[in-house]
Amino acid sequence: MADSRPHVLLSFAASLDGFLDDASPNRLLLSNAADFDRVDAARAESDAILVGAGTIRADNPRLLVRSAERRAERTSLGLAPSPLRVVLGGSRGIDPAAAVLTEPGAETVVYEGRRSLPDVLGDLAERGVRRLMVEGGSAVLTEFLAADLADEIQVAHAPFLIGDAAAPRAFGLPGPAGFPQSPERRMLLAEYRSLGDVLYARYLVQRNDSDEELLGLTIELSRSCPPVLNAYAVGAIIVAEDGTILSTGYSREPLYGLGDPSKNHAEEVAIAKLDPADPRLRSATIYTSLEPCSPRASRPLSCTDHILAAGIPRVVLAYREPALLAVCDGAERLRAAGVEVVELPALAPAVREVNRKVLARG
Ligand SMILES: NC(=O)c1ccc[n+]([C@@H]2O[C@H](COP(=O)([O-])OP(=O)(O)OC[C@H]3O[C@@H](n4cnc5c(N)ncnc54)[C@H](OP(=O)(O)O)[C@@H]3O)[C@@H](O)[C@H]2O)c1
Ligand SMILES: [Zn+2]
Repeated sequence: MADSRPHVLLSFAASLDGFLDDASPNRLLLSNAADFDRVDAARAESDAILVGAGTIRADNPRLLVRSAERRAERTSLGLAPSPLRVVLGGSRGIDPAAAVLTEPGAETVVYEGRRSLPDVLGDLAERGVRRLMVEGGSAVLTEFLAADLADEIQVAHAPFLIGDAAAPRAFGLPGPAGFPQSPERRMLLAEYRSLGDVLYARYLVQRNDSDEELLGLTIELSRSCPPVLNAYAVGAIIVAEDGTILSTGYSREPLYGLGDPSKNHAEEVAIAKLDPADPRLRSATIYTSLEPCSPRASRPLSCTDHILAAGIPRVVLAYREPALLAVCDGAERLRAAGVEVVELPALAPAVREVNRKVLARG
């Protein structure tokens, strides 16, 4: 998640045995309409969409935002209706009649020949790309992961198997160095949800356990919140003293036993997932993208109350709640109770970006 390159999100649909397609020349439908709509929303949130030449040859995608509403929203923000289309053309390049070159609606950049991914990402950053969605195929997904240049994976699991060695796998073999996303470096499961018969899962890649890294992950996690206009999207992650991630939560995340999910707060959900008697809480840190609430209108206990009751001694936050939806004194109350509160305002712009529609109403 370095500033010098875009945030890289790998997005694909795979069979349960990990294939992106079958071996036939016809395009295989792995996902369904609800999942295509989810992908469309993710496209609309991106600055560019990248695929390899193999995907252009196999599927000839247009790589445009389909929903007219989402295109209009992008236009109203001063963006192009669809993100920049980026193709890794490789040694053979792509057909000049390919849809990404002939279908209007977005600009297209083709990188010809073999290119180093850091150079491509550096060039895209210079073009103003901050979020890059990589939509395949097999060779390109493998290359991004093996180079440790993926920050996030969004996968739709289709409820069937392909079982054909001639079919393309979501991830091929990484080479002798292996994948950095190994059993020793587990990814963070940020979200999972059924969309009809498809299981959608979102994973975030963690690189170290600095406060900046963990708070950055927390802000990314907040992008999983179901969007509404009258409440913030917040993420929370509870980390043990030894760096183990104990629990995560995001605003409006459904959690059995907590009541109406539309009222759930991120910190509340993350705390509710743990046993209150867990001794690790007494030396843990809770990372939260927004200042913990206090007071709170929707439920008797605020997130500040929950943090104090859990005995969590340290809070790291990015953004003080603006006096827009409520007046909040969570940070002061926590400090007064002896909790260490660390603010990293350098990450506040990212929180404001995730919440730009809520903030724009104020
Ligand atoms: N299920 C899904 O979500 C999904 C999504 C996308 C694609 N797919 C499937 O995936 C399959 C295609 O996968 P694939 O592995 O064959 O193709 P691919 O990954 O889309 O593209 C590979 C091509 O990209 C070029 N390339 C890769 N890295 C490059 C780099 N660093 N610089 C320049 N060029 C680079 C390669 O160039 P060289 O020619 O020089 O080697 C190669 O031609 C198709 O079956 C498609 O349907 C499925
Ligand atoms: Zn709260």
